[in-house]
Amino acid sequence: MTEKIIKSVDRVKDIGEVFTPQKTVDFMLDQPEIKEKVNSLTATFLEPSAGEGAFLVEILRRKMEYAKSQSKTNDELQKNFLLVLSTLYGIELMQDNVEMLVMNMNNTFRDVYFTSIDHADQNNKILKSAQTIISANMAQGDALTRKTATGEPIIFSEWKPIGKNKVQRTEYTFDSIVEGGGPLGSVQHQYEQLDLFTDDESEEQDVQHYLPVKWEDVYKRLVE
Ligand SMILES: C[S@@+](CC[C@H](N)C(=O)[O-])C[C@H]1O[C@@H](n2cnc3c(N)ncnc32)[C@H](O)[C@@H]1O
Repeated sequence: MTEKIIKSVDRVKDIGEVFTPQKTVDFMLDQPEIKEKVNSLTATFLEPSAGEGAFLVEILRRKMEYAKSQSKTNDELQKNFLLVLSTLYGIELMQDNVEMLVMNMNNTFRDVYFTSIDHADQNNKILKSAQTIISANMAQGDALTRKTATGEPIIFSEWKPIGKNKVQRTEYTFDSIVEGGGPLGSVQHQYEQLDLFTDDESEEQDVQHYLPVKWEDVYKRLVE
């Protein structure tokens, strides 16, 4: 099947919209320095012009395969699937692209999940928590102004593992992440690993704290 890499000439002119073919995605993700980060449960990626997810979807698929190789039990695998999902972030300007991005991330997670987990339940907590993580991590907005279409700051969540089975979600504005002096501001390449969230307490002004919960309970969005 032929891959569609442009939607219209006007969109190419206006927003530089050209989607990356799978072959190129594979070639880039096979580069040793990127492969090393993909084969990690915790290394984070931010795609600031995510389109429909050409890169993020393939990174998710590969990270989930890696999670399978690192997990001994079904429970550990389900937790690790959510952990690797939580490391992937995207920003995309166009609403129709974000909708496709979110759908593609959800479908990829579901596909790998259902082919990997015995007796998986269609409506289970893992899938609901995956949806929560995807909608938090895939932002519609302008990566340059760091704002959404309505002028609100773009917000991202840090998903910090607590002990073996829990996670603490903390929200930060994208502005505070960039201005916080972390390596994000100096990143030359969009697929470089980003330590998005530093331990700098000065970022606390924009923070909302969620209660630490088990990974499978992330969908409950319990706040302090
Ligand atoms: C060249 S395409 C690449 C899309 C995707 N990364 C891929 O490889 O298929 C660039 C994407 O960036 C989006 N875009 C353009 N300006 C943007 C901005 N200021 N902030 C966020 N996204 C932007 C476009 O809508 C388009 O989807």
